[in-house]
Amino acid sequence: MSGANESDPAPEPRAPSRRTEGAGGARILFTGGSGLLGSAFRKIRPEYDYPSETVFDVTDYRGMEAYLRRGAYTTIFHAAAFTSPPKIDADPLQALEVNVIGTANVVRLAMAHRLKLIYVSTDYVFRGDRGRYREEDELHPVNKYAWSKLGGECAVRLSDDSLILRTTFGPAPFPYPKAFVDQWTSRESVDVIAGLMARLIDRNARGVVHVGGERKTVYEYATSLDPARPIGELSIKDAGFAAPADTSLDCALMKKILLAPDGGIRKEERT
Ligand SMILES: NC(=O)c1ccc[n+]([C@@H]2O[C@H](COP(=O)([O-])OP(=O)(O)OC[C@H]3O[C@@H](n4cnc5c(N)ncnc54)[C@H](OP(=O)(O)O)[C@@H]3O)[C@@H](O)[C@H]2O)c1
Repeated sequence: MSGANESDPAPEPRAPSRRTEGAGGARILFTGGSGLLGSAFRKIRPEYDYPSETVFDVTDYRGMEAYLRRGAYTTIFHAAAFTSPPKIDADPLQALEVNVIGTANVVRLAMAHRLKLIYVSTDYVFRGDRGRYREEDELHPVNKYAWSKLGGECAVRLSDDSLILRTTFGPAPFPYPKAFVDQWTSRESVDVIAGLMARLIDRNARGVVHVGGERKTVYEYATSLDPARPIGELSIKDAGFAAPADTSLDCALMKKILLAPDGGIRKEERT
């Protein structure tokens, strides 16, 4: 890993690139493009640029800066992260490197190049004991993964031109045979969440916005993805690890932004 140095040379002017052209002329570089969320975005926003970790490693500031010179960007969408809570609990160093220091590198890069920064955070930054969390509610991460994501949030807050999207999503169909009947969430499939995020980008949202659907149990979420498939019932009391009871998000601000007169939330997304 290499960090930025104050004696780094000033960035060179960048040539415009058509391949990153997005809605409204935004040119967006997306980190974590090979991941679950990145794969969903590639389907709906193929015009974004999705550099691999090999050429855009968030722990390598100089490498990222060199890559930026390839095209003119307006925005970095930062979804890259080390995302395995059990592995992070066992060995938090990689989360420190990628989620905290890596995100700080991306913030520094965005500020140095005057780029808007969009950061994907998690509903797990909340304690999870009451649910319906609003953007300004007290933060109390439930595990080391969530602490590392909150570390990223802290760095992103130093940029005035930023958007933090707190959310939860999963693949469809539900990947497990059983689901919690007593754990509450705002989770939606990754395709739905990517669609909502893309439209928040189009609306040029800033600050902190919660992105999700209606409050429901994980069991209700799982069965909603494929009603024909039987899913077994499970209690968080039998989970074998600390599972928060209710990290559901109040998504009123998201709806307000998407329902504003010159936009419009689609009927199927009204939750
Ligand atoms: N899944 C959820 O329910 C959920 C909920 C809330 C928030 N989030 C957040 O949403 C974002 C995307 O999640 P996801 O589920 O799509 O993650 P994912 O499937 O685990 O993908 C992680 C991505 O990060 C990349 N990456 C890891 N280390 C990197 C590095 N040093 N430099 C550059 N790229 C690196 C990976 O690249 P390689 O494949 O090459 O390693 C991969 O593309 C993350 O920030 C996550 O914390 C996820």
